[in-house]
Amino acid sequence: MSAVCHLDGSLVPLAEARVSPMDRGFLFADGGYEVIPVYSRQAFRLDEHLARLANTLAGLEIVNPHGIERWRELVREVIDHNDWDDQSVYIQVTRGREARRSHAFTEGLRPTVFIMCEALVTVPETQREQGVAAITAGDFRWLRCDLKTIALLANCLLRNQASKAGCVEAILLRDGFLTEGSASNIFIVREGVMLAPPKSHLMLPGITYDVVLELAATHGLRHAVREILEDELRSADEIWLTSSTKEVLPITRLDDRPVGDGRPGPVGIQMYRWYQDFKARVMRGG
Ligand code: PDD
Repeated sequence: MSAVCHLDGSLVPLAEARVSPMDRGFLFADGGYEVIPVYSRQAFRLDEHLARLANTLAGLEIVNPHGIERWRELVREVIDHNDWDDQSVYIQVTRGREARRSHAFTEGLRPTVFIMCEALVTVPETQREQGVAAITAGDFRWLRCDLKTIALLANCLLRNQASKAGCVEAILLRDGFLTEGSASNIFIVREGVMLAPPKSHLMLPGITYDVVLELAATHGLRHAVREILEDELRSADEIWLTSSTKEVLPITRLDDRPVGDGRPGPVGIQMYRWYQDFKARVMRGG
């Protein structure tokens, strides 16, 4: 069976889906998106992802085309119409199509809704066991990084810079402080204390970030949410990245130097286990 997607109210084969070049998503990257992991055909933290999508659309002044119930149904349909048990669902909503290219937008456009899914690509076992390498880079993105917009060119350039250096992620610094990764949130550990930067307009409020903080609280792990200085990042005992697709992944080299002793640290290993247990419990509970 070939992949099936949802475009503007219809289920269609992905290979046949077509969008007008006059769509503002194509012309201006004018839209928002979500990536939702699906395990055993159940979307993980779906309502939280849909709430973040609603927040992104509100920030972009795009009228949310659906209420939460309808969104849940649409996501369910796409999951059901595809083969894989573990998937990653991609939702994109653009402001819609206009007759003429014009920066200021016409009120009342009909948003374009596109939902597809792909097989969930999990982190290779060697990366999980040994950790991955990252570079640092200046965060030159705009000042609304809290919105999950499809205008990802800066993130793509930064990730590509990491990739060219043989690394998995670029960790971003702005004015001497850690913000996040090009497509992930970043946690560090110093002297047994897990540290995370606070949510602000400078980073995406990650769904995995929230789960990790909840797990730290539940299990009594010492932690603090506060600004993290570049020096604190560079001399951290552990660094991890978190995202819906990579979950909790240790970074063991930063700018070609080992992080801590160069191996995944005990706190990160523990957090990964708590995350797996939590996932299994939530999925079993429906
Ligand atoms: N990206 N920060 C940025 C800039 C991101 O793009 C992502 C996720 C995250 C982590 O958020 P979450 O835990 O909700 O996945 C943080 C997704 C996976 C992507 O763009 O493919």
